[in-house]
Amino acid sequence: MTPTLPPSEPSSPAITPAPAPAGRAAAPSGDYLVEMRNIRVSFGGVHAVDNVTVNVRAGEVIGLVGGNGAGKSTLIRTLSGARPADAGQIFVDGKPVTISNPRDAKALGIETIYQQLALADNIDAAGNVFLGRELRTRIGSLDDAAMESATRKVMGRLNPRFKNFKSPVKSLSGGQRQSVAIARAIHFNARVLIMDEPTAALGPAETAQVRDLVAQLKEEGLGIFLISHDIHDVFDLADRISVMLQGKLVGTVDKTKVTKDEVLGMIIMGKKPDEVTEKEIAELHG
Ligand SMILES: Nc1ncnc2c1ncn2[C@@H]1O[C@H](COP(=O)(O)OP(=O)(O)OP(=O)(O)O)[C@@H](O)[C@H]1O
Ligand SMILES: [Mg+2]
Repeated sequence: MTPTLPPSEPSSPAITPAPAPAGRAAAPSGDYLVEMRNIRVSFGGVHAVDNVTVNVRAGEVIGLVGGNGAGKSTLIRTLSGARPADAGQIFVDGKPVTISNPRDAKALGIETIYQQLALADNIDAAGNVFLGRELRTRIGSLDDAAMESATRKVMGRLNPRFKNFKSPVKSLSGGQRQSVAIARAIHFNARVLIMDEPTAALGPAETAQVRDLVAQLKEEGLGIFLISHDIHDVFDLADRISVMLQGKLVGTVDKTKVTKDEVLGMIIMGKKPDEVTEKEIAELHG
């Protein structure tokens, strides 16, 4: 169950998404903040992501689930710009966009928190929030006071209990480190947050803290893609759940209309709730 994402976003080959069929700039459906439509990513002959469509509204959490190698990380990496899609289209606010690299994604307000948080261990929270985007004074030196003040402000919103502004982040707990990573992501006007296994390495108390953070961001109107192996996390936090199996989308379901067993049936057997039998559900527990 270990995702093998690199800690930093590798520079990606400039792959242009296949053009839409001539003369048909398909109109995006619904009022989605982001829609990824018919996304395909291949490695050699293997379709890691095969014609997958998922979307998120403002103030909505989409749980993206599936077994190891289902294609979840590869799918969201096309949205974060880490590895552009070979085919398919991405719409933001209903308009087609091109995301060729992480910079393009960030310019659209799409921020990603990878499982390996990619924090700089030896510097403090503010240093991490502004890493690579440092604030400077008029004479060009680092404006530490402004960065700390901005970090206190964003943290006050996110996690008021956070007090360790002067410590290098390596001395912080897992939950606090997650707070710093989230602060870094949302400080720059994120509208869409991608979280790949945010609680995988955390204990119960810290998992609860991250859940609070996700609920808070949802409240603020962000659209969130939450990848998780933890079906309980997903059921607590997600509004809709998109299930992948072997590169394909099994389906997207409204959390209030399914049981955990039905979602497990989708994950394991690739069957939608109306296709699965009671016997098969029973076998999941056998
Ligand atoms: N850089 C790569 N080169 C070749 N194959 C890759 C690469 N990245 C992913 N794959 C393959 O693509 C498929 C989907 O992998 P991906 O990491 O997206 O799955 P996942 O759903 O995130 O799995 P996990 O839950 O284990 O993190 C797998 O078969 C994987 O081996
Ligand atoms: Mg993964």
